[in-house]
Amino acid sequence: MKKLSIILAATFFAVSLLSLNACKKTSDAVKPTLYDSLGGTTLVADPTGSAGTTIEKGRLLIRSIIDSTIFVIAGDTAINGHFTVLLSEVGKNNYSGFMALSKNLTDFVAVATGAKNFTYGGKSMVAAHDPAQNARMNMKADNSDFNAFENDLVKGAAKNGVTTSNPALVSVANLVESLRSKVVQQ
Ligand code: HEM
Repeated sequence: MKKLSIILAATFFAVSLLSLNACKKTSDAVKPTLYDSLGGTTLVADPTGSAGTTIEKGRLLIRSIIDSTIFVIAGDTAINGHFTVLLSEVGKNNYSGFMALSKNLTDFVAVATGAKNFTYGGKSMVAAHDPAQNARMNMKADNSDFNAFENDLVKGAAKNGVTTSNPALVSVANLVESLRSKVVQQ
């Protein structure tokens, strides 16, 4: 009888330890980030790269939306006056500034949404939008410029099949809105 109680106690102890461990695993589980809901780290073929080049699905969606948005902005007279350096380069078939802006904006949004495999190496949001610190920013932005930028971002997203009914786009829009006071400097 005593032996049975010892076996029962030992079994109970072992089961308790196992269930404690199971609880720990559940609470340690990594919460999905906004980057995950945009596609996350799954590698897919990069449509703009050479054959065999892959890219994280989340980064590809962000980069596609950003590139489309830059094109929308280029044609939007409400704000394209801020981008005269970029537009004049592109007019001469020089895409180096466009490529640099696309990369920096993509890194910035990827990191801000929770991507782990990239770093943002551009200027701070204040410096990037201060003509005194960034010669590529033709003049300071005001609130109506910022509103136009947000509208153009929604149009850029729509060009990639992402509409405002997608909660991830709403979260990205909230993230963008949270930066208004740094970008708007007049
Ligand atoms: C939250 C919204 C915005 C974000 C996250 C953002 C982000 C950025 C980033 C990351 C850069 C590149 C900085 C670098 O290369 O060091 C940049 C550049 C720039 N941004 Fe913004 N921006 C925002 C809104 C705006 C608005 C509203 C305007 C004006 C209408 C604007 C105009 C510019 C211009 C003119 C540049 C330089 C472009 C170039 O390199 O030719 N941005 N922005």
